[in-house]
Amino acid sequence: MRRVITYGTFDTLHYGHIRLLRRARALGDYLIVALSSDEFNSLKGKKARFSWEERKADLEAIRFVDLVIREDNWEQKVQDVITHRADVFTMGDDWIGKFDFLNPHCEVIYLPRTPDISSTMIRTRVAAS
Ligand code: CTP
Repeated sequence: MRRVITYGTFDTLHYGHIRLLRRARALGDYLIVALSSDEFNSLKGKKARFSWEERKADLEAIRFVDLVIREDNWEQKVQDVITHRADVFTMGDDWIGKFDFLNPHCEVIYLPRTPDISSTMIRTRVAAS
């Protein structure tokens, strides 16, 4: 079984996320999503519209997602890859090169980001309406 891991906030779940998750799952047989905690987001100066529990429930409704774990800091990735026996680490190509340090532990694949959609855009438009 080929295990794939990916990271993100996945707030206001949108088609860019769905397309990323579908392609991530297609890289293997089992997809783990490490979902940024509310505390980690505030450390990054980010505030999600939905709580970690709500975002987790939305991700769990997607058939390509097999397991959701917490992301609490920048440093946990190597340990996650080892603990969850991930063969592949994948992210959208807005992160290209940023996670190449995982190469000794697993294959690192950047997937093309879907244009013209983001959680920030949705949050801004919902707030303005
Ligand atoms: N992603 C994507 N296409 C988009 C938006 C996101 O492929 N249009 C991917 C990202 O590259 C990442 C994952 O989805 O691998 C989770 O991204 P996240 O940062 O949660 O989503 P964004 O919509 O980019 O959120 P924000 O606007 O808060 O940065």
